Amino acid sequence: MAKPNLIAGLDIGSGKMTCVAVAHDTETNTLKVLAGRSVPCKGLRGGMVSDIRETSASVTHILGSIERECNRDIGNLFVGMRGAHLESFSNHGTYNISRMDKEITQADMELAVENAKAMPIKNDNEIVNVITQGYSIDKQRGISNPEGMEGSLLEVDVHITTGSSTHINNLAKAIQRPGYKIDDTFYSLVPLADCVLTQEEKEIGALILDLGGETMSVGIYIDGILKFSRDIPYGCDLITSDLSRLLHTSRTHAKEIKEKYGVSFPTFLDEEGEIPVPSLDGRSTHNIKKSYVLDIIQPRVEELIEQVAQCVDNSGYRNFPVVGVVTGGGSLMPGITEHCVNILGLKEVRRGTVQRELITSDEAFFDPQYSTAMSVAIYAASLMGGQDFARSSYEKGGSMFGKLGRWLKGVDIFGG
Ligand SMILES: Nc1ncnc2c1ncn2[C@@H]1O[C@H](COP(=O)(O)OP(=O)(O)O)[C@@H](O)[C@H]1O
Ligand SMILES: [Mg+2]
Repeated sequence: MAKPNLIAGLDIGSGKMTCVAVAHDTETNTLKVLAGRSVPCKGLRGGMVSDIRETSASVTHILGSIERECNRDIGNLFVGMRGAHLESFSNHGTYNISRMDKEITQADMELAVENAKAMPIKNDNEIVNVITQGYSIDKQRGISNPEGMEGSLLEVDVHITTGSSTHINNLAKAIQRPGYKIDDTFYSLVPLADCVLTQEEKEIGALILDLGGETMSVGIYIDGILKFSRDIPYGCDLITSDLSRLLHTSRTHAKEIKEKYGVSFPTFLDEEGEIPVPSLDGRSTHNIKKSYVLDIIQPRVEELIEQVAQCVDNSGYRNFPVVGVVTGGGSLMPGITEHCVNILGLKEVRRGTVQRELITSDEAFFDPQYSTAMSVAIYAASLMGGQDFARSSYEKGGSMFGKLGRWLKGVDIFGG
């Protein structure tokens, strides 16, 4: 029997890339993770290509090792990108059905979306993706698929992401150079938010925060609709730099100390004890108090979350999110959710990873560091076809593609 198609979701991170490969498991009729990898990449800065050769080398390394592990070629490759050049808008499109029969067709829906896309875009920028988030017919809201229904006025809510053509083209070149073909590129926060937040959270009003090394991505859902998404060009590697500078140790050791002993809130300081810190040349070690590490980390984490608060203020949606979900590597820092509650004024904040009902996977890939790559792969699988397994799995997760999701660039989701 032929092996099911291998779909790869590639997360272009800050100084690294992460890939998760999924396929339809015919035995369980679910989507299953077959392999996942994360590799450092010196050619990426803040999600953008700074060295095309280095980036291509990392692409070859990561995709090649995934193919070897799965013992087959990647059939479809979807790329999740990020970066401060990306901008998102929510927009509204309308279309009058003037025909006698008034039965809404696919073409009418596409025209409503085309109208929603009619907005000014900066020079040298292009539309990265457009997601439809719900239709209304003659002012009746909450219609996920109006095809076949009757009406005179069709309206649609969309979330549009635009980005710099230069950055997008450089990334595409770096991936295509080793011979890989890209099926589509998304702003990775969009699938991430969709796969990590529950439907209840999206409805009540939720903020998602993806804490990466050199970027933080912020998304806001209100009334079940993604209203805002934005990248901030700072991230948790700043904590590493602070530790390295103030403890006189290499970045590698500083990162290790952060990830092993770091806490950002006093209540997480379990016992007063000492931590060995290797000197810069690695020849000797000195001991420091754990509380000193907290003293270095806490102000930086507060500053990062204040940046997020500012971003939320500027979004105009400050008073809407009630709950928060943090994900990404930085979410593993003990105390981070407490800072989010205090600084962002949210009622409740949890750590999040991809909802388990969306996919079958080894526990290792439910780690927040894999959540973006996994979401891109899940999204990609939903785009790849109208297979029942995909549809039912997304409906269970209550995500937007299950209900109505259509990405309007590049791929025909339910077509051939
Ligand atoms: N256990 C941990 N505690 C604190 N920070 C962590 C931990 N694990 C990873 N990080 C940090 O998360 C950041 C990387 O986030 P990640 O989502 O993996 O990467 P990307 O930037 O590609 O999105 C780094 O700054 C890393 O040091
Ligand atoms: Mg990440």
